[in-house]
Amino acid sequence: MQDFSFYNPTRIEFGAGKIATIDQLVPTNAKVLVLYGGESAKRNGTLDEVTAALGDRQVQLFGGIEPNPSFETLMEAVQKVREQKLDYLLAVGGGSVIDGTKFVAAAALHEGDAWDILLQGGQNITAALPFGSVLTLPATGSEMNKGSVITRKSLQAKLPFMSELVFPQFSILDPVKTYTLPTRQIANGVVDAFMHVIEQYLTYPANAPVQDRFAEGLLQTLTEIGPKALANPEDYQTRASLMWTATLALNGLIGAGVPQDWATHMLGHELTALHGLDHAQTLAIILPEMLRQRKTAKLGKLVQYAERVWNITEGSDDEKAEAAIERTRDFFESVGVKTRLSDYDLGAEHIDTIIDSLTQHGMTALGEHGDVTPEHCRQILLASL
Ligand code: NZQ
Ligand code: ZN
Repeated sequence: MQDFSFYNPTRIEFGAGKIATIDQLVPTNAKVLVLYGGESAKRNGTLDEVTAALGDRQVQLFGGIEPNPSFETLMEAVQKVREQKLDYLLAVGGGSVIDGTKFVAAAALHEGDAWDILLQGGQNITAALPFGSVLTLPATGSEMNKGSVITRKSLQAKLPFMSELVFPQFSILDPVKTYTLPTRQIANGVVDAFMHVIEQYLTYPANAPVQDRFAEGLLQTLTEIGPKALANPEDYQTRASLMWTATLALNGLIGAGVPQDWATHMLGHELTALHGLDHAQTLAIILPEMLRQRKTAKLGKLVQYAERVWNITEGSDDEKAEAAIERTRDFFESVGVKTRLSDYDLGAEHIDTIIDSLTQHGMTALGEHGDVTPEHCRQILLASL
């Protein structure tokens, strides 16, 4: 096992009706900005429930945070926070709203150009406003982690940052709030959570048996409940499992003490920035060919994944690895997330620009060994057509 430092200060309030606990979690004298996305939180009553729970506190609203939250929109929220001297943020939504709120929390107290936060990956964050979240979409794990991904539309750039100062103080996870999610977003959530586990598990053996078993448990849970969550939107127990699985997939626990990959995510960000694909769609396209391209370096873990997650016990190591890659692709397709660039009308002519952008963003030594180059990524995209 590798050395590690594990820190996670986020309180989770899990269950139906838990929005009411906001009253105990937000300081009574807080001047609150509630941030949300499009219309979903308004339409399904979540926003009303949140403002009711905030009671007599001074509350302002900021709506319109888009999927793949933009720097441009978020800077308007930063301006509002500064002008109105607001001192507490509350995100109501999916990963985009929570990520956006993390950025606002840091940018509001940042001196100088806030885009530098992204350029330095968050290392220059010295303070951030406190905030909580009400999660409405199980997928990203943002509700219990220190990461955020922000898009600058004018530059077609989508970049991550991390800081311990942007852990939510608390997150409310009420599975009932997921009932109104469209099928596409549930499918995206299943794939994204699955991918978060894969990025921290499918690397090379690191003498970390408990992390491996946790990861395999999360993967198997997702293959089991993913189809049920799609078929029965109001099955509370299934939605509850999905919600907690997605949180555990990226709250630091399974990644402590093990090597991590993230190459699929970094290449995926370029596809979203340039072509607007949903985050999970990009991952479903890239992963199968990423695994095939890196089969030799990952063979030990691929075989373990094949045997323990997919119960593939027949054949040579190479055959097991190949079968596991195809089972993974089939799983993504079975929940309705397509796995080929051509499914999204993207052809070979787009690949040069994607690779140029990846290179420009400094993503030139990816993966758990830092040996995935832009040229490998080009081959992966060509194989994913
Ligand atoms: O905007 P509204 O109207 O709220 O609609 C949203 C949005 O259109 C809708 N939605 C959310 N909850 C709903 C709902 N519709 C009906 N009922 C509900 N209960 O769903 C749509 C997608 O929402 P979004 O927040 O964009 O999705 P997701 O949670 O998948 O977040 C994706 C973003 O998170 C980033 C991604 O890159 C992407 O920008 N990620 C963040 C990570 C992190 N912070 O650790 C890690 C991930 O790998 C990921 O990169
Ligand atoms: Zn992701």
